[in-house]
Amino acid sequence: MRAEPTFRLKRPEEIEKMHTSGRILAACLSHLAESIRPGITTLELDREADTFIRDHGCIPGFLGYYDYPNSLCVSVNEEVVHGMPGSRVIEEGDLVSLDCGLILDGWWADSGLSVSCGPASEESRRLLEVTREALRRGIEQARPGNHIGDIGHAVQAFVESHGYSVVRNYVGHGIGRNMHEPPQVPNYGRPGTGNQLKPGYVLAIEPMVNAGGSEVRVLDDGWTVVTCDRRRSCYFEHTVAVTPEGPVVLTLRDEEAA
Ligand code: MF3
Ligand code: CO
Repeated sequence: MRAEPTFRLKRPEEIEKMHTSGRILAACLSHLAESIRPGITTLELDREADTFIRDHGCIPGFLGYYDYPNSLCVSVNEEVVHGMPGSRVIEEGDLVSLDCGLILDGWWADSGLSVSCGPASEESRRLLEVTREALRRGIEQARPGNHIGDIGHAVQAFVESHGYSVVRNYVGHGIGRNMHEPPQVPNYGRPGTGNQLKPGYVLAIEPMVNAGGSEVRVLDDGWTVVTCDRRRSCYFEHTVAVTPEGPVVLTLRDEEAA
């Protein structure tokens, strides 16, 4: 979520390479989502992710990134993002957010999802639905001629119309040979502002949606971001290429395509 200084448009053959990375990450996240059950620890999920990534010939991108010690982020309930895997046991009814990144042939993919462990409470179900739809609406704006602000505006307007809030301290980002490249992609904004998009932009769009207020803080572990009001938070992320034909989701999972 910190933008690197360099950035250039990706050629179609480079986007195709990023799509290969993205497909593997999509399969990894589908596998992890299916692995979530009461009793599993967040560290076990991290080990599953690390093994899957290496078994598919890729490098776990998060491991060692700014000294992050794991290959997956697992954020539960009031945790927003960057939850560090450990001995925490997932329980029925938990809202679990997974965030993962990998590198293949130097090309990054970054994606994440939230899922309820077992049946979702009414609050979790609505939060999941609104956040998933907010991402879909943001992606819809990632087309030539539109601006970065159109993405954030679409996300924010939809989220706030449901009485929820978007996190402002963390934003999406360009992605390519680095995980974080310009431009930043906020989940809020005004239409027609920011960079104008053209074919070759590849963006990680990642709405973080809070049931309560938008304020967040970082725990003493230096990583885990939690809501200040301790209400639940939900998150989805995709790596998206801007092409002449419109947005192409490079990390689309089979269950979403269906
Ligand atoms: N998806 C997150 C992001 O876009 C991943 C960062 S977690 C880290 O910033 F561990 F890699 F730092
Ligand atoms: Co990201």
